[in-house]
Amino acid sequence: MSLFGTTVRYGGLAQALHWLTALLVLIAFLVSAGGPPERVYSAARASTLLLHESLGFAVFWLLVIRLIWRPFDRIPEPPPMPAWMEVASKATHWALYALLLAVPATAMLGAWFGGHPVTVYGLGAIGPFPGSWGASLAEIHGTLGDIILWLAGLHAAAAIFHHFFLRDRVLSQMVPGLSDPARQVRP
Ligand code: HEM
Ligand code: HEM
Repeated sequence: MSLFGTTVRYGGLAQALHWLTALLVLIAFLVSAGGPPERVYSAARASTLLLHESLGFAVFWLLVIRLIWRPFDRIPEPPPMPAWMEVASKATHWALYALLLAVPATAMLGAWFGGHPVTVYGLGAIGPFPGSWGASLAEIHGTLGDIILWLAGLHAAAAIFHHFFLRDRVLSQMVPGLSDPARQVRP
């Protein structure tokens, strides 16, 4: 598989970054579960918090690499589809990118200005900083964390719908080894 994309397929690096991000977001979400009094901040859950923050940071760095790489890569052209569908899919992709930035950003600012240090991969801690709006940002972080999962779920369902019902190459563009259903010879 080539590192670079073509007009009908994402490149190897874009695919690897996409699937690794999806996996890490899912695990970060799962380990964060447990509202008050079992919040991730409770002392009993310090190792969970470290894991959650480390996974979240990794998601942020993967986003940075992805956005630096994207202009050098070739992004596949969408297969023929109604204009509204193309607009909806582009809007979803950019909303997912925005959330991949906003989720870690609100977490870090929420912790720092809520009186909590942020541990960087167990190596050391940054913050906290003086401020009073941390708690509301941390709450926004939790809500955005839920929203990214719902939106990613909708996005995944749309990709599967394209593959099995519209029988176009949307899903095969991103899945290694999957062929375009429109090009398969039917008996
Ligand atoms: C894509 C990555 C992430 C996702 C999907 C995510 C998701 C969530 C969710 C859903 C919650 C609410 C949990 C609950 O109350 O039941 C939460 C809480 C939290 N997250 Fe994240 N998070 C991510 C990244 C990060 C990062 C990078 C940090 C690092 C600073 C972080 C720090 C926290 C903290 C400290 C809380 C507890 C906030 C509180 O209880 O007030 N998260 N996260
Ligand atoms: C947290 C999870 C996920 C996030 C944040 C995410 C994010 C994204 C983003 C930002 C793009 C646009 C890529 C670009 O053009 O630069 C994309 C494309 C894509 N994603 Fe995801 N994704 C997630 C999970 C999934 C899952 C579970 C599936 C499949 C079942 C999936 C299937 C696809 C496909 C097929 C494309 C290409 C769509 C097209 O070319 O129109 N994604 N994803």
